Amino acid sequence: ALRSAVPSALYDWYKVNARTLPWRVPPHSQSLPDPYHVWLSEIMLQQTTVAAAIPYFQRFIERWSDVGALAATDEADVMAAWAGLGYYARARNLVRCARLVAASGGLFPDNEETLRALPGIGAYTAAAIAAIAFGRRAVVVDANVERVVARLFAVAEPLPGARSRIRTLAESITPDMRAGDHAQAMMDLGSMICTPRAPMCGQCPLSGECMAYRSDVAGDLPRKQVK
Ligand code: ADE
Repeated sequence: ALRSAVPSALYDWYKVNARTLPWRVPPHSQSLPDPYHVWLSEIMLQQTTVAAAIPYFQRFIERWSDVGALAATDEADVMAAWAGLGYYARARNLVRCARLVAASGGLFPDNEETLRALPGIGAYTAAAIAAIAFGRRAVVVDANVERVVARLFAVAEPLPGARSRIRTLAESITPDMRAGDHAQAMMDLGSMICTPRAPMCGQCPLSGECMAYRSDVAGDLPRKQVK
């Protein structure tokens, strides 16, 4: 039941509750977001909160409207625009990546493997771009998603050991269609409802499927290995 009940209840919730973010298109719209926007936002969100990333994202796309424009800019200008976001290796890789994409025709690759070969794009970011920008079925697991999955399946094993099991479980509830909406719905649920402390299970669309909720242990999961 979990396999189809979870993505379907989650998607119904997401259609009503999705955060409106400048790199998104509304759920259920027939179009996919601009891959340049998805890539830029995912790089910014690697080590930055959504709230902090939004004004930077807006300024970047206003100043550099596509990947070709960004590729043609001096690295120093991009570094200056990045100032305040931190982790400056991200900005240097951003420019390198933009130049590679621009040099190969200006289109981002539409699959995880080819995306991963680009500077600054690791496994998580490749999966996020493939799902969100191209609708590919990809398993997108960040810390929010990890927490949601650990609770849904009441994974008692602590992190980081539980990581591969959580990934397998996340894969088991990933739908074939609308993988990008699914990924972002998991993120929104994790940040709005299935929060690290005091999760709001009474408002959760998945409580009926959630093994941790059934045992009243949602707030205790995921466990973390004591170092
Ligand atoms: N964190 C990383 N990617 C995100 C996205 N697309 N939406 C919301 N939070 C995110």
